[in-house]
Amino acid sequence: MLGSGKGSNFVALADAIGAGQVPAEVAVVLSDVPDAGILTHARNRSVAAEFLPPGCFRTKLDEDAERAYIARLQAAEVDLVVLAGFMRILKGDFLRAFPLRVVNIHPSLLPAFPGLEAWKQALDYGVKVTGCTVHFVDQGIDSGPIAAQEAVPVLDDDTPGSLHERIQQAERRLYPAVIAALARDRVRVRGRQTSVGS
Ligand code: GRF
Repeated sequence: MLGSGKGSNFVALADAIGAGQVPAEVAVVLSDVPDAGILTHARNRSVAAEFLPPGCFRTKLDEDAERAYIARLQAAEVDLVVLAGFMRILKGDFLRAFPLRVVNIHPSLLPAFPGLEAWKQALDYGVKVTGCTVHFVDQGIDSGPIAAQEAVPVLDDDTPGSLHERIQQAERRLYPAVIAALARDRVRVRGRQTSVGS
């Protein structure tokens, strides 16, 4: 699992694994932020957790860093790379190392509101329904084939904070369910078309 932030999706996944709902284990958590909450949550649960420096760019890994991330994940023999708030764009070499094995969760109903602060984009636009999307990662930004989505209502008195929290509650349901389906080999992908069994 790769993350840069507080780690609520890691906690949800770890809880679901602990409850026997996801036949998987988190082999390692990597972060580009030394004091990210996700690293603390992982260590508290005795999951290997490491800060790997991202290199000299702001929005992507530099070449050496990308090689280090790939090597660490391959050494852990991961079957799946789960992004949870990892704030770096992953490029060709990384994606080729894990073909159709990198998934992400985004806090909107894609293709609406890709990019940063999607809940705020939704609120500013005035949509009545938003949600979250689990998708396979390709070279674009939040543009890969969609595996699953959950809708979330936008309420009249929502603030960015209250809407984000409601979306994150949906994320904590949807992501473990999709990862369980992937672990059970119940996910098929043909081009942009996917099917996710239970
Ligand atoms: C999630 O809200 C996800 O939609 C976005 O990054 C956030 C990560 O949150 N991609 P957390 O670190 O899992 O709490």
